[in-house]
Amino acid sequence: MSRLVYVLNGPNLNLLGQREPHIYGSDTLADVERACHATALHLKLEVHFFQSNREYELIDWIHEARGKAGGLVINPAAFTHSSIALLDALNAFEAPVIEVHISNVHKREEFRHHSYVSRRADGVIVGCGVQGYELALLRLAKLIGDKT
Ligand code: DQA
Repeated sequence: MSRLVYVLNGPNLNLLGQREPHIYGSDTLADVERACHATALHLKLEVHFFQSNREYELIDWIHEARGKAGGLVINPAAFTHSSIALLDALNAFEAPVIEVHISNVHKREEFRHHSYVSRRADGVIVGCGVQGYELALLRLAKLIGDKT
């Protein structure tokens, strides 16, 4: 299986570090990307890291990952709770999917408790801060298998 992993980030995550730091912490998305590349190196994975505020771009990247990536990590941000289109795109992606939320969405408002993406995700990491991305890569490495 391919050791290429797509890491996709949804709307407003470009403001990580500035946006509601009491909820999301002070690390920036650039810090998260750096940490993902460092972890990936260790796990012999290759990471393609993206963020968009536009639903269609996230969908296009999922389509691009089809037949190419061995796994996908996604923090769909607010699209988690609204996007059947993202769910449909993920249903057309054949390899493992791990959903990540930096905050513990279950401790927050009721509308954050439902995720369309969770109907497809093989694993969900919630409330572990930005470390959730590294945990997701660790899980994907396990699912993809050891490099021989
Ligand atoms: C989030 C949780 C979502 O409810 C929210 O809309 C986000 C970020 C998280 O990482 O905790 O933008 O996905």
